[in-house]
Amino acid sequence: MAKYMTPGPIQLPNEVLNYIKKQPYFHKSIEFKETFSSVLEKMEKIVKGNALIFPGTGTLSVDAMVYNYVNPNEDVILLDIGEFSKRLEESLISRGARVHIMKSDIGEVIPPDVLQDYAKKIKDLKAIAMVHNETSVGVANRYVEKIQEIARSLNAILLVDSVSGIPAERIDKEIDVIASASHKAFMSIPGASIIFYNVKPRNLDKLPTSIDLNKFISMKDRFETPYTPPINVIFGLEYSTSYILKIGLDKYSEIHKERTDYLNSLVKLKPIAKKEFRSNTVSAFYTNHAEIIINKLREKGYVIATGIGNLSKNVIRIGLMGDIDFNDIKNVAEVINEYD
Ligand SMILES: Cc1ncc(COP(=O)(O)O)c(C=O)c1O
Repeated sequence: MAKYMTPGPIQLPNEVLNYIKKQPYFHKSIEFKETFSSVLEKMEKIVKGNALIFPGTGTLSVDAMVYNYVNPNEDVILLDIGEFSKRLEESLISRGARVHIMKSDIGEVIPPDVLQDYAKKIKDLKAIAMVHNETSVGVANRYVEKIQEIARSLNAILLVDSVSGIPAERIDKEIDVIASASHKAFMSIPGASIIFYNVKPRNLDKLPTSIDLNKFISMKDRFETPYTPPINVIFGLEYSTSYILKIGLDKYSEIHKERTDYLNSLVKLKPIAKKEFRSNTVSAFYTNHAEIIINKLREKGYVIATGIGNLSKNVIRIGLMGDIDFNDIKNVAEVINEYD
């Protein structure tokens, strides 16, 4: 069985798989409510905010955030640092928002003061939307807390896609809304959309039940959900959130940084991210031999990813989350270094 060094789903520890592999509890039963309550409590120790968990993946999480927090015709700034930023933009456009795009050079992010100057010029700005960890290029925007301050000072809210960031790429302060998912740094299987909110939904219209966050919020105190939750994904989170808290948030993010630094010290290819913006969950490198490298690694028992969008042919991406070690990183780097 190959080992996954992909940007998610990730290589899961056996303990997580063992927790998942059991009869799903009936979601109205006392045993489910106990598990759900314990997972929500731990999630809220990991990230500052009220946690919601519902069926879906990162895409639905981001769409739910957009539809619950942006109304048609509202002005929103979108920070574009790659492919997933574009998907966030598409979601905003489908919602009918007036999107003002700030695009940075590849591998970089927009400096907060530049954003602030631009944002001040938009009359009645309602939101700033951004990707915290841009999985397509391996770039982390660690100005997220500073950008929250800017948004607050302008009476706008901040909407963050951190599907592949938290809790390995940390956000320590309260952010208005963060959209995430179960199968990357939260270390469970795909199937749960995760939202952390510190401001209430502000949609003026009625949304379908599947993404109506107010419905989830109104039932949360009773550990109930408006429809069937992703029960076995939550079982996985029961283990992984305990694990993350047990080793501590500092250590958990430090492990990812050490892996990233090690990989980048070995690989001779040019990374896309400028060093100061290098993500600790996924590294992306330019190469002329993406397909060959990927096939060769498969033979050696490792799965990594190509680039996406217009980078699909000349970029490789390596995920550094989950049950991998330094030896795996060394093995992967050795194969990569056989090619340019
Ligand atoms: C930053 C980011 N946003 C959104 C998504 C979409 O998530 P999913 O594929 O789980 O729907 C991904 C997936 O890789 C992602 O990395």
